[in-house]
Amino acid sequence: MDDIGEGVPLLLLHAFPLSRRMWQPQLAGLADGCRVLAPDLPGFGGSPPWPGAVCRMEDMAAAAVARLDAAGVGAAVVCGLSMGGYVALALYETFRERVRGLVLADTRAAADDEAGRGRRLESARAVESGGPPALAALASSLVPKLIAPGTRAARPDLVAWLHREMAAAQPAGIAAAQRGMAERPDRTPLLPRIAVPTLVVAGEDDEITPPAESAVLRDRIPGARLMTIAGAGHLSSLEQPEAFNGALREFLRGFAPDGGA
Ligand code: MLT
Repeated sequence: MDDIGEGVPLLLLHAFPLSRRMWQPQLAGLADGCRVLAPDLPGFGGSPPWPGAVCRMEDMAAAAVARLDAAGVGAAVVCGLSMGGYVALALYETFRERVRGLVLADTRAAADDEAGRGRRLESARAVESGGPPALAALASSLVPKLIAPGTRAARPDLVAWLHREMAAAQPAGIAAAQRGMAERPDRTPLLPRIAVPTLVVAGEDDEITPPAESAVLRDRIPGARLMTIAGAGHLSSLEQPEAFNGALREFLRGFAPDGGA
């Protein structure tokens, strides 16, 4: 886990099928004002292979809390992007006392529909049995949806990096996470019960999480604010790191370093 800086603990939960490395711009840009903790979720990056066929969002939340325990951190502001946001909501539901605030970026509370679940299970099978060509195929289908057309044109380095990251991912981890996401419950009923300061962040060109999903988060979580990031698709933290970091910086100003909002 990356753990740098001092002050309010900020736990960063990465997207699928990436790793803590996606948070480099946040580690570089925010650690002068807070303590940034970025773990690899189970089955991703340098984390050990997940032992089961399914890794539920609750399993990922428990693993993230174990990393907070190991780092001696009681409660943190929890920021999750996309799959990381599903994990952040599971973490809030199960470990409420560990959450001082929430940043829900390019994510949703709703569960998958039947067709979406079917696609995930098929993708899990393909990656498990298909070896490196299946990972390359996953990257080719995902990368164009993850970042906005403008980012694709302006940032060939980011496009190449995403392909490399996905080629290096653990097939078993991807499959277990797909099955876990397919099983995740609808957490919309949780939203009105969220009682910590919450910031919703959305790339304005996010194809994967449409604006209506971010509006549900803003409208149903008491007091939540929505920040739309211009010129970003789904991976808003990587595509427009300055705007993303600026929004987080301002949000974090509302927290005292030693507890409380
Ligand atoms: C992600 O970016 O984490 C994925 O789009 C999540 C998902 O597949 O629902």
